[in-house]
Amino acid sequence: MADKRNVPMDKIKRVAFDRSINDWLWEIGENGTFTYSSPQCESLLGYTPEEIAGKAPWVFMNPAEANRLEKLFSEINHNEGFHFLQDTCIAKNGNEVFLESVGSPFFNSNNQFMDYKGVSGYTRVGNHKTRKDGIPTTNLLWGNIPGVIFRYTQMPDGSDSIENISPGSKLIWELSADEIKSDPTILWQQIHPEDLDEFKNSVGISKQLLKKWDHVYRIITPSSGVKWLHGIGSPVKQTNGAVFWDVFVSDITETFTLREEKTNALVSILSVLAKTMASRDPYTGKHEERVTKIAVQIAIKMGLDENRIMGLELASSIHDMGKIQIPAEILSKPAKLSDIEYELIKCHSFIGASFLTNINFKWPISDIILQHHERIDGSGYPMGLVGDEILLEARILGVADTIEAMASHRPYRSALGIDKAAAEIKRGSGTIYDSNVAAAALLLIKEGKLQPYIDG
Ligand SMILES: [Fe+2]
Ligand SMILES: [Fe+2]
Repeated sequence: MADKRNVPMDKIKRVAFDRSINDWLWEIGENGTFTYSSPQCESLLGYTPEEIAGKAPWVFMNPAEANRLEKLFSEINHNEGFHFLQDTCIAKNGNEVFLESVGSPFFNSNNQFMDYKGVSGYTRVGNHKTRKDGIPTTNLLWGNIPGVIFRYTQMPDGSDSIENISPGSKLIWELSADEIKSDPTILWQQIHPEDLDEFKNSVGISKQLLKKWDHVYRIITPSSGVKWLHGIGSPVKQTNGAVFWDVFVSDITETFTLREEKTNALVSILSVLAKTMASRDPYTGKHEERVTKIAVQIAIKMGLDENRIMGLELASSIHDMGKIQIPAEILSKPAKLSDIEYELIKCHSFIGASFLTNINFKWPISDIILQHHERIDGSGYPMGLVGDEILLEARILGVADTIEAMASHRPYRSALGIDKAAAEIKRGSGTIYDSNVAAAALLLIKEGKLQPYIDG
């Protein structure tokens, strides 16, 4: 999920938007208290946004209702939104106010829950709650949802239907509820061809395992082109075998694009950094280049997904950057290092990681670099981590690093060759090197696939 807090919002536009609608927009932080309230809370409850800030929603309820809602809120899975949560609040003047709310969870770039953003209005209970202007309030709430809500049903014979579609369908798909109801396949046709298989797969898994559907995908709309959407919904199986999902779909194009742009910028900066370092220290630069290729081959062999391999590739390309702070005469010493010199060199993984600690990558680049000399029996450095405490990417990088270092020339000795490197990996498999990583590396060596990356 994208980090909404990072999206700069024009304050004036926000105020104008908040005032242009009739329902109350709010944000509830991870500790369950309001972190934002639009001014409409005053017309609904009589409290100003300042009076609401920092308080939990149940503070404005009678004890029984407060208990019920607090319990309900604690039971809500923070990965899901909620639709039409109804509750009774006590307004400042002591009157009971019936509210209906919809909310959606938001996550930061590390996928950690940040807050709920939602909207509340008078409920349709009894169908006779109307505003002063006589408009049924439920229509206002229904129309102001920041996305679209609908019920999607799949019958046992494979046919499907969509109903209860909120007016947000116009905003998201540029289609009216009637158009969608008369031909639900129209929505499938909008899904980006590259995302269609994965989309179908995600719905199939959700239906089969009755597991929450939570999916990010692209659509192509008639006039706005490609949009990124985020859909969530929990499947419910009925006695006739049909399965339905009450789905909430929101448009995340803006935040998704921003995140991708930020990632691309960071990746470009890293490759410039790698090139700069390589021109200052060509020996380390060449080593990092070859280690990167070996690490990527191992990761592919192990079946890591593309995104994870990209993180490994980036970390590998600068894994020894901390050596920039080690005196050149030690790095290129054509003889065995003294204990003190070796201890100094050992600082490079920590130094390299510290350069990147405060940069928020979507991959654990800094930790991969920090851990690339850790060994699974705890004999590595700098922390002596064991087994799974070491990131898989760091375990792969560690093996690739060893193969390259042994098989290629070093300042103090000539190349030992790929066979010696293979023997070392075999010897340490399961003790100092991860056995799965070692097995993949040995297979690649056997197949001759690492030879092109060895400076023999
Ligand atoms: Fe290193
Ligand atoms: Fe290295």
